[in-house]
Amino acid sequence: MKGIFITLEGPDGSGKTTQARHLAEYFQKHGRKVVTTREPGGTSLAETLRDLALDPHLPVSKITESLLHLAARADHVEKVIRPALAAGRVVICDRFSDSMLVYQGVIGGLSLDVLRRLNAFATEKLEPDLTFLFDGSPEAFLPRRRARGVSDKFEAAGLAFQQRIREGYLLLAGQEPERIAVLDATASEAEVTRAIVKKVEKFV
Ligand code: TMP
Repeated sequence: MKGIFITLEGPDGSGKTTQARHLAEYFQKHGRKVVTTREPGGTSLAETLRDLALDPHLPVSKITESLLHLAARADHVEKVIRPALAAGRVVICDRFSDSMLVYQGVIGGLSLDVLRRLNAFATEKLEPDLTFLFDGSPEAFLPRRRARGVSDKFEAAGLAFQQRIREGYLLLAGQEPERIAVLDATASEAEVTRAIVKKVEKFV
């Protein structure tokens, strides 16, 4: 059986983690083995790099930050994602390369073209089969972000920053409409799950 690589993208507090769980349950019900993972992270090295990349007390340039994310991704792809796909598993990853294109590229001002080339090197050209973009106004996600507490340097930034993130993601979705499905993440939990399952069924 062929592996399937699905990534979930969008701002913090948009419901990605909850929907990752529902999607995993959906595939398990259909007899598929699932690996649920996240970026930055997913291996011991990548989790260590995550702490460094997201540490608000450790200011780094956008270039250094990108390289930390890329190193984390390279390790994650090599040790977790590729082996799982080769074994025919469904891999559901909370954030992946598109996060870097938005946070370090669109927001951070680094060239998308350069980031895409570095990313192709780090991942040996691994791209998601399907990406769900959890879209919605920054205000709509504010209560969930507040409930979680401000935990890293991006989450500490304000609503205008969140709006730029949204626009960055929509820009990417416009460039790759086949891969990136835009969801109304302000809909109810059940409605978002239904929209995801519908798209997945079409893809599978
Ligand atoms: P999260 O795990 O709570 O979603 O937080 C991860 C943060 O890392 C989020 O603010 C986005 C950021 N990030 C990047 O800046 N670049 C990347 O390549 C990735 C994967 C995440």
